[in-house]
Amino acid sequence: MQILKKVNLCIDLINRIAKYDKMKRVCVIAFGGGVVGDLAGFVAAVYKRGVPYVQLPTTLLAQADSAIGGKVAVDLKIGKNLVGAFYQPGLVISEIDFLSTLPGRQVRAGIAEIIKYGVIGDAGLFGFIEKNIQKLLRLDKKALEFVVERSSRIKASVVAKDERDTLGIRAVLNYGHTIGHAVETATGYSGTYSHGEAISIGMAAANHIAVESGLLSGPQNTRIIKLLSGAGLPVFAKRLSAAGIYAAHLRDKKFIHGKNRFVLPIKIGKVKVVEGIPEKTIRKAINLICGGRIDGH
Ligand SMILES: NC(=O)c1ccc[n+]([C@@H]2O[C@H](COP(=O)([O-])OP(=O)(O)OC[C@H]3O[C@@H](n4cnc5c(N)ncnc54)[C@H](O)[C@@H]3O)[C@@H](O)[C@H]2O)c1
Ligand SMILES: [Zn+2]
Repeated sequence: MQILKKVNLCIDLINRIAKYDKMKRVCVIAFGGGVVGDLAGFVAAVYKRGVPYVQLPTTLLAQADSAIGGKVAVDLKIGKNLVGAFYQPGLVISEIDFLSTLPGRQVRAGIAEIIKYGVIGDAGLFGFIEKNIQKLLRLDKKALEFVVERSSRIKASVVAKDERDTLGIRAVLNYGHTIGHAVETATGYSGTYSHGEAISIGMAAANHIAVESGLLSGPQNTRIIKLLSGAGLPVFAKRLSAAGIYAAHLRDKKFIHGKNRFVLPIKIGKVKVVEGIPEKTIRKAINLICGGRIDGH
């Protein structure tokens, strides 16, 4: 069943909880993927100005990423995650056994975020994914346990330094997300690309900007692109218009002081937040991902 993070659904849930909550103490359990986690976490944040909640993520993406960090939100018709809060769960329990029923496309979406963690802060994790990609795709428990734990630790340590996303430290988690979100917007969230697939394309675009800006070497870029492709993730948005993606990226909330902001890899395991990338460079990167050819690949 496809659940969406709609504001109406959130109001409906709050009403149901209020009816049940006659002198009882309420604790919300977010049992599901990232959509359920964001929605249930938001309900917990606003009901009675906050009740405790637990994240029990059941997708690889939610276990490795979205269940941690306390960003909770629902979507509006005009944009994703526009109504939200920072609200930490009391506990996150990532049970690897839940992943055994996950469809391949969802597994790959989770792997996209895990590759992101390797690139932004852990060359060892990146190397592990390279060596064990087939095991991960086959849902090997030990391999999954390793990558979920390592990704969770990286996310938790970044969030601990900048919980409310005000210092620019948490921004590194947005590697691949500037163009990735624009890709999602350009498809009208039709499901053409899942979130993980869109950020895979976004990481390819960010890499191209990094190479063009002299920050990332060709061979390091090739290694990242190869791993994304090897995981069965898209690195091109062939059927989308470059102009549409460019227009969507301009509306991104990651713009700061009127300047664009990109998280660009310097090498595997280290990224840099760069502001004010020239329009020409961004357009070139988007043209490349739409054209189906990236240098060095
Ligand atoms: N809060 C954050 O920091 C953060 C970070 C990244 C993404 N997100 C949000 O997370 C959402 C995406 O999360 P997602 O990728 O988990 O998608 P999802 O929650 O839509 O789950 C994907 C699909 O898998 C199904 N599913 C869930 N668990 C399953 C299981 N164990 N076996 C079989 N099927 C299962 C779901 O019913 C759904 O159809 C987006 O809304 C995104 O904005 C939030
Ligand atoms: Zn993401």
